[in-house]
Amino acid sequence: MPGAAERILISSQQIQQRIQELASEIEADYPDGPIYMVSVLKGAFIFVADLARALKRPSVRIEFMAISTYGNQKTSSGQVKVTRDLDVNIEGHDVLIVEDIIDSGVTLSYLKRLLEQRHPKSLEIATLLDKPDRRIAPVQVKYIGFQIPDEFVVGYGLDYAEDYRNLSDIRVLSV
Ligand code: IMP
Ligand code: MG
Repeated sequence: MPGAAERILISSQQIQQRIQELASEIEADYPDGPIYMVSVLKGAFIFVADLARALKRPSVRIEFMAISTYGNQKTSSGQVKVTRDLDVNIEGHDVLIVEDIIDSGVTLSYLKRLLEQRHPKSLEIATLLDKPDRRIAPVQVKYIGFQIPDEFVVGYGLDYAEDYRNLSDIRVLSV
C-alpha cells in the first residue's frame, strides 16, 4: 500500500490466530451463561465481530457504547464523555468490555468505573492492543491481544482522522 501506512506491525493472520487463543481463554473463564460484550465504537467494531464469532456458544450479546475523549486526533485529553450509552441493563450479568487499544488508560478506567456502578456480576476488559509505555491511568486488563511499542497504529478498526479503519492488518502510521 502506498502512502503513510506502509509498515505492517501485526498481520491479519497473526490477529486472527491470537483471537482464537483469546476466545479459548474466554470460553474457559465463562463456563456458562451469556457474555455481554460491551464494545466501544468505533475502533473496536472489527475486533468485537471477530472475537464474538470465535466464541462457540450461542449466548453472546453484542452491545455498543460510544465515548468521546476530547483530544486531538492522536491523543486523548483525559476528559471523557459517553455519547451513546447502553440500552440494556447489565446488572447481574457477566460483562466483557471490548476495546481496540489502551493507550493512556483514561478511557477504559473511566468506562470501567461507570459500568461497575451498574452492578454487573463480573466486569473484565479485552483489548486487542496495549501500549503499556503510555499508561497514565492504571487499569486492570484481563485479555490482551498484543502489547505494542509507543507508535501510532491504524487498521483493523483503528483510525487516523477516520481513515484506515478498513485495513485488515495493523500498520504503523508514519507522518
Ligand atoms: P486512552 O484513553 O488514551 O487509553 O485512549 C484510547 C483511545 O485512543 C482508543 O480507543 C483509540 O481510539 C485512541 N488511540 C490510542 N492510540 C491509538 C493508536 O495508536 N491508533 C489509533 N487510535 C489510538
Ligand atoms: Mg477507540
